[in-house]
Amino acid sequence: MKGIILAGGTGSRLYPMTKVVSKQLLPLYDKPMIYYPLSVLMLGGIREVLIITNPSDEDIFRELFGDGSQLGMNIEYKAQDKPNGLAEAFIIGADFIGDDSVCLVLGDNIFYGQNLSKAMWNAQKKLDGAYIFGYPVNNASEFGVVEFDSNMNVISIEEKPSEPKSNYAVPGLYFYDNTVIKKALEVKPSPRGELEIGSINLAYLNDGKLKVELLGRGMAWLDTGTPKGMLKAAEFIEAVQSRQGYYISCIEEIACRRGFIDKTQLIKLGEKLKMTDYGKYILSVCEEIE
Ligand code: G1P
Repeated sequence: MKGIILAGGTGSRLYPMTKVVSKQLLPLYDKPMIYYPLSVLMLGGIREVLIITNPSDEDIFRELFGDGSQLGMNIEYKAQDKPNGLAEAFIIGADFIGDDSVCLVLGDNIFYGQNLSKAMWNAQKKLDGAYIFGYPVNNASEFGVVEFDSNMNVISIEEKPSEPKSNYAVPGLYFYDNTVIKKALEVKPSPRGELEIGSINLAYLNDGKLKVELLGRGMAWLDTGTPKGMLKAAEFIEAVQSRQGYYISCIEEIACRRGFIDKTQLIKLGEKLKMTDYGKYILSVCEEIE
């Protein structure tokens, strides 16, 4: 299973914050936003990741993670020339995906919860076509919305409907088999001129191959679409980290706990950052790990 993080887009809803820097590079409390979706892929054991960026920010992302080897990963980069839609990720990433299946996570989606790893593994195990999630929200019309029957069969999937058929939004975390590349190539631009992820999901639905799993109450899917949403998300992260002492989305810790790197490498990464609480946390994790 390959992973793609889509970190393009103009971020126009967050101007002037995003006028010269990609949204996914902005800090969310104590780390760049993209750490959060990267950690989601890592929790699912996905070590080969393609980060799709705006052309102007490709080098900055490269500077942030390099080739990923320090985390025991393989991270590649490609630019999306224009914000042509989420489904273009599979065309840009076609060579990277090769014959594999793929998990797409949007670079501004923040997930946190005990069942997250389980959900990531389940999706990979059960994947037969497409696998998406449903998350209850109060403002479903601002998202992709999934409607399903009592047997969890998807009935409809609509992008930002003015009258949502359910209150279950589709978070930006999708699993697809290899046919997604072909499906993406066949997608026609929507009236707003974009290759929509909804069209990919619809193609799977028409084939009877779209599965949905609900992310329950124990899961946080945080909104970063507005300055207020970002502040609230940062406050949430700060609250959990301060209260429990465990960090959310510490990619170095996850790399070690998942066996991507050994303890010696974790110490090396922690030493480099030891003047910060983040670095001190990494070093404290080293003491816990055998
Ligand atoms: C995109 C998708 C939407 C999904 C959302 C999740 O919307 O089109 O279906 O629910 O991400 O973050 P956007 O945020 O790009 O408007």
